[in-house]
Amino acid sequence: MPKRTKKKEINVDIHRVTTSGDIEVSTYLEIAQGVGGEKADVISEDVPITESESIVVIDFGSQYSLLIARRIRECNVYCELVSYDTSWEKIKALNPKGFILSGGPASVYTKNAPLAPAYIYESHLPVLGICYGMQAITKQLGGTVSPGAKQEYGYSILHFSNTSSPLFDGIDDSSPVWMSHGDRVEEMPPGFTSLAYTENSPYAVMNNNDGIYGIQFHPEVAHTPQGKTILKNFAYKICGCSGNWTISNFIIDSIDSIKKRVGKGKVINALSGGVDSAVVATLIHKAVGDQLTCIFVDNGLLRREEVERTSKVFKENLGMNIILVDASDRFLYRLRGVTDPEKKRKIIGEEFIEVFEEEANKIGTVDFLAQGTLYPDVIESAASGSNASAVIKSHHNVGGLPAKMRMKLVEPLRYLFKDEVRKVGLQLGMPEEMVWRQPFPGPGLAIRVIGDITREKLEILRSADFIVMNEIKKAGLYRQLWQTFAVLTDVKSVGVMGDYRTYGYLVAIRAVTSEDAMTADWARLPYDLLARISNRIVNEVSGVNRVVYDITSKPPSTIEWE
Ligand code: XMP
Repeated sequence: MPKRTKKKEINVDIHRVTTSGDIEVSTYLEIAQGVGGEKADVISEDVPITESESIVVIDFGSQYSLLIARRIRECNVYCELVSYDTSWEKIKALNPKGFILSGGPASVYTKNAPLAPAYIYESHLPVLGICYGMQAITKQLGGTVSPGAKQEYGYSILHFSNTSSPLFDGIDDSSPVWMSHGDRVEEMPPGFTSLAYTENSPYAVMNNNDGIYGIQFHPEVAHTPQGKTILKNFAYKICGCSGNWTISNFIIDSIDSIKKRVGKGKVINALSGGVDSAVVATLIHKAVGDQLTCIFVDNGLLRREEVERTSKVFKENLGMNIILVDASDRFLYRLRGVTDPEKKRKIIGEEFIEVFEEEANKIGTVDFLAQGTLYPDVIESAASGSNASAVIKSHHNVGGLPAKMRMKLVEPLRYLFKDEVRKVGLQLGMPEEMVWRQPFPGPGLAIRVIGDITREKLEILRSADFIVMNEIKKAGLYRQLWQTFAVLTDVKSVGVMGDYRTYGYLVAIRAVTSEDAMTADWARLPYDLLARISNRIVNEVSGVNRVVYDITSKPPSTIEWE
């Protein structure tokens, strides 16, 4: 395996690409003294980088950029999304076989509009510009782009003007494609020919003899039914990729690289009961066995049977070292009387660090901290670094924790999407129930008991939540829904049970569909199911006399109520 080494600062993203296109355990981060999340010390180390193949997506800020990377990976080709100002040095390390220029909100003629870096054209590798990406190619190579007489949003029909391109292999003439653009290519750059057109775009697809393609529509969205074939044609037939990105290769390479990286060192992992930390633990356990210790903190804010279930799977079934810490008194004591959601999150985050550190210190010297960071988190934090956006909710993740501990990070899922993580979990033999678990927020039930938190309220919520989950699973809907849960509101209302007036809590049911939690829609649950859930809650959960169903999407709401 050819190797190069490269000098890097350790708190900058570093990764190794293996021959199968998979990524090795990544960032070295030396955590500074102080509160969790503070800036890390910077140290240097030689980081080996190995050859592989990939498609690199240059991001111009389209809402679909990450989707392009995902579609390419679905074709078994490793793909990364990088900002348009990323250096060639970093990109070279990925050994690209071709580039995709994403769409974006800008117009190529506005001041400071992002353009493709010079190395894209100098590399002589194939390029596929999508929407804005096509317009950037046009401008940079001497064509003209202008505001279209008519904007084109939604479905258009793509007509071929030339069928000889491998990009169109297996694609039907006059097939629907999804458009979303105001500007359009008016004049192609010298040397380009038109391959297809739509009613409003005379040049909907173009290419030149250097393997540079531009397409005005979005092949990455589901609304372009044959879009994935177009992306696959680009990767395989134009870039010559071999398609070596598979889950089993990922697992083999990850285990191998975790072994090399960790050596005889000790690793700790904070188990949350969620799929990401569970897959991380299982992967690392396969690699280094008992050198891994998992810490599972019961903060008193978990759902019914959560502690028992996690302990059963990891301790009994998988035979891992697990430290179960019952810290519920500490958390609930600090949360008493707190009603502000952000304060709740802060307290829970701080308390978690303390408990985690105490337990980790008992183990002695620990060299590595494992984290279940996923690719969208990496992309999101890279984007927020350059473009600070308003904090809507300060999500408490284990990420950035714990302070005062000098450990290196092991993040084997850092370059995976959630669906890939699930596939890894299944291939590792993890129970389906765990692999398909719906996301559960770090602050747990604390942000689902609206207002102040008491043990009594938590118990009411647990009982209601248990019924919701039970009915959703019985209806066979659990996997289709992104999240389903109950919320205990701080509203009390009047009811009548038997001949008596009641004054009880209002429980809200939330069930949403989503791809990635960035946007979500309320689930159209069958009325009968809602009726059953409501009926069971008011009958079985004492203290509750009314149930409502939340029918707001995100945005404008958020998934959680706090
Ligand atoms: P929102 O409510 O912002 O939630 O639409 C989006 C996703 O994030 C989860 N969530 C959290 N996860 N710590 C977490 O680890 C948090 O503080 C937190 N707040 C929300 C939420 O369950 C949903 O999946």
